[in-house]
Amino acid sequence: MTASRIDLKSPDVYAEAVPYAFFDHLRASEPVYWQSEENGSGYWAVTRHADVVAVSRDSVTFSSAVGTTQIDDFDEETRAKQAAMLVNLDPPDHTRLRQLVSRGFTPRMVKSLEAHIRDICSQIVDDLLEAGEVDFVPRAAAPLPLEVIAALLGAPSSDVDRLYDWSNRMIGFDDPEYGTTQADGELAAMEIFLYANELAAERRREPRDDIVTKLVQPDENGDTLTEMEFNMFFVLLVVAGNETTRNATAGGMQAFIDNPEQWRRLQAGPELAATAVEEILRWVTPVMDFRRTATRDAMIGDQPVAAGDKVVIYYPSANRDEDVFEEPYRFDIGRTPNPHVAFGGSGIHFCLGAHLARLELRILFETMAARIDRVEPTGPVTRLRSNFISGIKTMPVRIHPR
Ligand code: HEM
Repeated sequence: MTASRIDLKSPDVYAEAVPYAFFDHLRASEPVYWQSEENGSGYWAVTRHADVVAVSRDSVTFSSAVGTTQIDDFDEETRAKQAAMLVNLDPPDHTRLRQLVSRGFTPRMVKSLEAHIRDICSQIVDDLLEAGEVDFVPRAAAPLPLEVIAALLGAPSSDVDRLYDWSNRMIGFDDPEYGTTQADGELAAMEIFLYANELAAERRREPRDDIVTKLVQPDENGDTLTEMEFNMFFVLLVVAGNETTRNATAGGMQAFIDNPEQWRRLQAGPELAATAVEEILRWVTPVMDFRRTATRDAMIGDQPVAAGDKVVIYYPSANRDEDVFEEPYRFDIGRTPNPHVAFGGSGIHFCLGAHLARLELRILFETMAARIDRVEPTGPVTRLRSNFISGIKTMPVRIHPR
């Protein structure tokens, strides 16, 4: 395979599978690879684990403020909105906002959801066993993170379908099934804004023990989120909390279907659930990339990059790096250590929801392994057409009870 054959920016490239062979080639021969763009300046694609971590850690040299999730630079209007979103900020703005929103993400808050997560997982498995033949994505992978986000935000369970629809439209605008235009994604964002404003107004009137209440109240220094910051954080939670955990679940089950001996291993040793979750995260890598922009001339590995250059870090590639993972193409639920970068390569933007996502995935896979003998595929899996989220849209299966 030659380096010029794949356009890493094209969503088509990821529609069938993650292009692992191409990433292997890049890590071996051009680890910091120049990807040209039809309508843009081009960018550096960073593929080695060590370089992904180094870029993530150095937020002074590699800024998030010009854009992260979209590889294109923001226009003026989008920039104003995106500048209020945590993931697109540099210090000191990032430090301030992260401190403000972290008040809602305390270990106590996450722990307090555990019993609720167990209930949801039991219901999901009841439903799977009763139905027998299902599409695993809407029936098993999607409901858990949605219900958990709804509980976290204090939104009623009856609003879960709306959150699902918004989340799909915002992340899936490259996929014809969800809406073909970026405008549709923006409309979904506007709808979330209105919803977020209503919820915030309610909590100001009637405070509760939930994250929205924490976010609308000033902190001990009297600092508080602006309306735009609150709305954008709400959007971030709905999207970041859903798409990721959902696809880790679906991709994780796919890995177990392809490696049935690992499923048997989990059934025989439920104490492996925690390392299994880390391996699922490494294996699936639900978020494929984030972008930074160099603020000054710098080196990434042996490659000089210039101030102003765009830099995209590719987590799936880092998670198959043979310099870090022994036999990276072996799905091994007992793998330790497992320094995957599915939640980011450390640094200030490291996933705020990592504890919550780990808890959700552990309880769901524990519950499934305890009560399901085997998950058998009954039709083809379809993938999301996206250059950002490694997603599974449909996964028809038959569930065999234990
Ligand atoms: C950031 C992945 C679940 C909220 C991130 C980043 C990644 C990521 C790769 C960027 C890290 C960086 O740029 O260094 C994932 C994966 C998840 C998951 C794979 C599940 C399997 C969640 C959940 C929530 C969440 C459940 C919230 C409920 C966030 C937020 C940020 C973030 C708010 C921005 C942090 C910042 O910029 O300071 N996540 N995430 N994520 N994630 Fe997650």
